[in-house]
Parts: sequence; C-alpha cells; structure tokens
Amino acid sequence: MNNSPLDGQVAFITGAGSGLGAAFASRLAQDGANVVVNDLDPQAAHHIASVVEGIASPFDVTDSSAFDAAISDVFDRFGRLDILINNAGIAPSGTAASFDKAIVNQMLRMETRISEMQPLDYLTSLSDQDWDRMIRVHLYGTFYGCRAALRVMQQQRFGTIVNISSILGQSPSAGAAHYSTAKAGIIAFTKSVADETAHLGIRVNAVCPGYIDTPLLTPFSELMMAAIVTRIGIGRLGTVGEIAELVRFLVGPESSYCTGSVFTASGGYNA
Ligand SMILES: NC(=O)c1ccc[n+]([C@@H]2O[C@H](COP(=O)([O-])OP(=O)(O)OC[C@H]3O[C@@H](n4cnc5c(N)ncnc54)[C@H](O)[C@@H]3O)[C@@H](O)[C@H]2O)c1
Repeated sequence: MNNSPLDGQVAFITGAGSGLGAAFASRLAQDGANVVVNDLDPQAAHHIASVVEGIASPFDVTDSSAFDAAISDVFDRFGRLDILINNAGIAPSGTAASFDKAIVNQMLRMETRISEMQPLDYLTSLSDQDWDRMIRVHLYGTFYGCRAALRVMQQQRFGTIVNISSILGQSPSAGAAHYSTAKAGIIAFTKSVADETAHLGIRVNAVCPGYIDTPLLTPFSELMMAAIVTRIGIGRLGTVGEIAELVRFLVGPESSYCTGSVFTASGGYNA
C-alpha cells in the first residue's frame, strides 16, 4: 500500500554525496522515493546511496554523454524518472586574501578615505580555467541534466525539476563573479524550461539558498564567516534540513501550481 507522497517515484540528485544533495536524498527517501545518488566522488555517492537505500551513479555532470547514459540507465531500471534535482556545485576558490583587502577597504570607506582603497583583484586574478570550470559545473551541468531528464519526462507527461541556484545568483556581490553569473544563468534557464514544458505536466523551479552550513563553506576564513553572518537577518547560517524541506515541497504534490518560479531561503540575507 502506498502511504508516502513520493512512494514509487524515482529521483535523480546530482552532487548528492555531500551537504545539501545528501540531505535532499535523505528527505526524499524518507517520503518513499527511490533515490539515484550522483556525485563526482564515487565513494561519497556509494556511501549516501547505501544510507538512503538507493543507487549510486557517480560521474562528472559536465560530461553530457555520461549524463545521458545515466538517465538512460535509470529509465531501463525503473521505467520512469519523476524528479531531477540539479544540485552539484563548487565554491569560488582563492578569495580569502582578497576578502581581507575588502575588510580593510570597508574600514577606509567608513572613514571616507576612498582614494586609499585598493583594488580587490578578485576578477583580475581569476584564471580562464576557474571561470570555465565554474560555468561548466553549474550551468552546463544543469542544462545537460534537464535535457536528458526531459527526454523521459516529456514521454511520461509528468516530472518535477529543481535547479539549485543561490542568493548570489539574485544579489551578486564582489568576489564570485563566475559563481554569481552561473547561478543567475540557472534562474533564466529554469524559467525558459518551465515555459517550454508546463503544458506537459512538468514543473521546473529554482531554489536560491543563502549561506548554508555545508562543506562548501570550508574554504571561508573565520573572519569571512563572521562578516557574512552579520548580513543574515536571522543571525545564523541555514541548515541543510531547512533547504531540504523546501525542495521536498517543490518536488511533491503540495506545490502543484508552482512552476517557473524562484524560491529564496536565505534567512533574510542582505547583500
Ligand atoms: N552551502 C551553501 O551555502 C550554498 C548556498 C547557495 C547555493 N549552494 C549550492 O548548493 C549546491 C550544493 O552545495 P553544498 O553546499 O551542498 O556543497 P558540498 O560541497 O557539500 O556538496 C557539493 C557536492 O557536489 C559534488 N560535485 C562537485 N562538482 C561535481 C561535478 N562536476 N559532478 C558531480 N558532482 C559534483 C561534490 O563532490 C560534492 O559532493 C551547490 O550547487 C551550491 O552552489 C550552496
């Protein structure tokens, strides 16, 4: 007997070996979904798959043939794909030194010593490779995932997709131009795909988390974290569980009238 809202449904989650993705996997499994756990790190994918009694599908989301093959495998195995969560992501690197300069600049600004403020060099020190990888993982990965999933979902005339953007995609700030650009692109992409597929019973939404306590924030210094938290109205980082509840709502029947929308959960973050 089916008691849980997602019983029998099949959910594919990228980057689910850690942080938010792992929490999404647990939350959806709790409500009866069969979860396919993707991650770049095969060990992490297998570990979370065993925790949620799902299956692992380790590959790099920037590899479109691997994505196509993985979705085909899921269809061969289950005969359906109900949910896709494009979550895999990486953090901007090498921002700590520039961030220290930004703090000094901020103090100079408060004393109106503008001419003494220094270039931050976030952008001038960004390499071609860093730019390229950031755009590929977030934006290309989301495109490859949606394209592969829609080939199944359009046939079955049912499906829900959640693309994980970020508060920085809505309110970009200095220090993460490539990350913010990729995440803003995900918002536009989400709205376009939702418009293309709404009449087919497919819903596509974006979630913009604020700062959430996951390993993604590990490279941030204590000073950076303290400065970030002062901008969060609620006064703390978010938890993975808080974002998982929102994602669970968006993939379930409770959100049947939501598509092409952007849902922010930032604790009142002010950029
Ligand atoms: N933590 C935050 O504060 C925050 C805020 C806003 C948005 N996000 C977004 O949430 C998503 C999840 O981040 P998280 O905080 O859970 O980070 P995390 O580092 O804990 O997890 C990210 C996972 O994605 C995997 N991954 C990275 N590149 C991949 C690739 N090319 N193919 C497959 N898997 C890959 C990693 O191996 C890792 O397991 C990301 O898209 C991130 O940008 C996070």
